[in-house]
Amino acid sequence: MSAQPELLPACLVPRHYDLDIDVNLSEFVFAGRVQITAEVKEETDVIVLHALDITIKSVQVTSSDGSVTRPISQPLISLAQTQPRKLHKCDGVTSFSEDTISIQLERKLACGEVVLDLSYDGELNSNMCGFYRSKALIDGKEEYMAVTQHEPTDCRRTLPCFDEPALKASFDVTLRVPAHLTALSNMPVKDEIVEADRKVVRFERTPRMSTYLLAMAVGRLEHVEGTTKKGVKYRVYACPGVTNQCLFALDVGMKVLDFFSDYFGISYPLPKLDMIALPDFAAGAMENWGLITYREANLLIDEVNSPLVTKQRVAYVVAHELAHQWFGNLVTMSWWTDLWLNEGFATWVGNFAVDHLYKHWDIWTQFVNQYAGRALQLDALETSHAIEVEVKRSGEVNEIFDEISYCKGAACIMMLTSFLGMPSFRSGISSYLNKFQYGNASTRDLWESLTEASGKDVEKFMGPWTRNVGYPVVFLSRSSGKLSFAVERFLATGKEAPGSDWWVPMRVLHSSGKEELLDIKGKTLEVEDAEGGGWVKGNLHQTAFFRIRYDDALLALLGPAISELRLSPSDRLGVQADAFALARAGKMRTDRALALAMEYEEEEDFTVWADLLGSLADVMSTWAKEAEYEGLQQMMVKLLQKIMKKVGWEAKDGEGALFPMLRPLVILNLGRNGDEEVAAEARRRMKGGWKSVAADLRYAVYATVVGTGGAEEFEVVKRVFLEAEMSDERNRAMRALCATREEKLMDQVLAMTLDGSIRSQDVFYVFGSLSANRVGMDVAWRFLQANWSKISGMFPSGQPPLARIIKTTVSSFASEERAAEVEAFFADKETPGAEMSLKQALETIRMNAAWLQRDRDVVGSWLASK
Ligand code: BES
Ligand code: ZN
Repeated sequence: MSAQPELLPACLVPRHYDLDIDVNLSEFVFAGRVQITAEVKEETDVIVLHALDITIKSVQVTSSDGSVTRPISQPLISLAQTQPRKLHKCDGVTSFSEDTISIQLERKLACGEVVLDLSYDGELNSNMCGFYRSKALIDGKEEYMAVTQHEPTDCRRTLPCFDEPALKASFDVTLRVPAHLTALSNMPVKDEIVEADRKVVRFERTPRMSTYLLAMAVGRLEHVEGTTKKGVKYRVYACPGVTNQCLFALDVGMKVLDFFSDYFGISYPLPKLDMIALPDFAAGAMENWGLITYREANLLIDEVNSPLVTKQRVAYVVAHELAHQWFGNLVTMSWWTDLWLNEGFATWVGNFAVDHLYKHWDIWTQFVNQYAGRALQLDALETSHAIEVEVKRSGEVNEIFDEISYCKGAACIMMLTSFLGMPSFRSGISSYLNKFQYGNASTRDLWESLTEASGKDVEKFMGPWTRNVGYPVVFLSRSSGKLSFAVERFLATGKEAPGSDWWVPMRVLHSSGKEELLDIKGKTLEVEDAEGGGWVKGNLHQTAFFRIRYDDALLALLGPAISELRLSPSDRLGVQADAFALARAGKMRTDRALALAMEYEEEEDFTVWADLLGSLADVMSTWAKEAEYEGLQQMMVKLLQKIMKKVGWEAKDGEGALFPMLRPLVILNLGRNGDEEVAAEARRRMKGGWKSVAADLRYAVYATVVGTGGAEEFEVVKRVFLEAEMSDERNRAMRALCATREEKLMDQVLAMTLDGSIRSQDVFYVFGSLSANRVGMDVAWRFLQANWSKISGMFPSGQPPLARIIKTTVSSFASEERAAEVEAFFADKETPGAEMSLKQALETIRMNAAWLQRDRDVVGSWLASK
């Protein structure tokens, strides 16, 4: 890392926060007082700390000898009346940068312990950051709750603090709230004093932790509870009336918490763990130590109304957040540059736990599709970034909660586990967690522990993968009794680029059944081809992070190995995924990739289908405006006939464990591409009312009915959106509405993003779904431009949904004109937290445009020949 991050001055280090907040839910304000015990490391008369959108009312500093130091020229002039909810600059307190304050003291503080005492006011905002209000609908009535979201850098909105991950401290939290509400924080309640209709709730002291993990929640709540085998009190909270929907998450959570305690060899250190479903939540979930917050759709499961895909999602999200209780909370990255130590780890470990609990879900094959696959896609862009990424200012932090930190991070851990073997990996991470508990660590620290545990040079193997952007493609060819491997960097644009010093672990399976591991440490490698000219599959089980380009003859041999299901599901998945990526990059003709796709007719594996249909969706969206589009649709319908016969419309006893996900996937793709029979059956099923449709089929049925119908069908599904009580069901209906072919109806859905019918947390679904619709992509883009200030205003802290909205809305375009238009529009706009996404989207549009230009003709002739 070259440039140094902008950090607070090191002369003062926080040790403990004593926080007292009075919550006013009728006026949406709060009054806070925080006493921060800090150590003066170097004498100073200026204190700099973080604060944002709060009004500091008074400051005083008490030294350990009892002497009091104040800012220059007290008393402070209150500007609260004129500038109610903004940080004001009063005498002695000035704004140092946009989110820090600088307190000029009347004299210097000597080294030693001091207590900073600050009183302040804040607003319970409606922006899902800091201490905010969330609107619940309870028995049809609106009611507000107050909750926090502090990661990455919004704790400074709740209290003045030293808001950097390495500045760990303990917290004593006190909340003053209406007596009839439940108040929660990271730790259990210590005591509670009720006075008339108010109460004062004091919580136990937290362990040393980073500010971004501090959490509070106040509202009318109900819960279910249990105690894990290891004795942790576990509760799951939600708005009243849905406690039965909390049981699934409680069950998963209790099992996974104990599993991690065992696996890591360190027990979960807090006496309790609460999880809470919130009606408004910007991210998917947040791992606050002891009080994990979720959007409702990621926590609540109804036995009748939740499809398998949602159960898998909830199990995974819970496991991911629980993984953070160790990776992130107990041991925290020293700075955001190493965010992947949190997110990449939680992603891999979360999947590991779900696999442990639900073997039949075949999680590791799904992992190849959902994590490795997404990372390979983003990291093929020149505008991608390395896993270890320079982050100078806190404003840049939101940007890196992306597929690189999560998915490439997790894929690299997968690669590392196969390099080290699970026993060494486990003992290495366990000693790493032990060594750095309650402290901070960097990537280098992790490599050291793993090296000690395994005796292998982990830094040497992993360094090139985490420090450099991009990954290799290995060209695999056969000639005169030899197999040759040639390594280059893979770029989605097909451009040549200097590679890195990757050490590529190439595991190979031969048609004879022989497996071997070849370490490719240079640019090329040649080995004897002793297995007699049959097929060869490289990157066996897709456990390593690279793509393979087979020569024509080798690719042709793999066709039958796929259609006869001789390869494992992840290998079948990998061959087509690489082929389509190469086609897009101009390294293979797209008609060749399409021909390969037709080899998958006999496929029955959900994940292989999901990945293949994803590859084909990229072709469809790039060709969306072309004359060949209909031909491509016919090809899709043909490809899916056999599997449709096999899955049918009704679940059968003894069917594949993932058929409940495969069935709707097939139906959706057939309905969308013009299969009349499927469309008719979907309409017939909808006639009995949405509740009569099996939960697993609902989204596919809704989308097919809307996509093949008109205003009437749209109204039917819109009613689902209005009637349904579960967030997940409303989202299904809302996404399905975006399948309409009529612009006027699209406008209706889009209008709902602004009139409050759709919560801002869910707005990205609308843009994402419309962009997958050949007409919708233009309508969504027009709308986004026309309403930019309102939509960007929903995420003033640069929260992840904004980047997601920009990226999904424009990434399906495939012309230079569109690229130029997008560039021009954003040229003078502020896109907090989305700068990098915007660049990546532009590169994607231009790549699509080049792909289309290059292969329009060959795709046309291939279709004509069919
Ligand atoms: N630590 C994140 C939450 C987060 C994300 C905070 C982005 C700030 C910005 C949490 O652990 C997480 O990763 N949440 C995911 C869901 C997860 C299960 C993949 C999310 O919010 O998308
Ligand atoms: Zn996470």
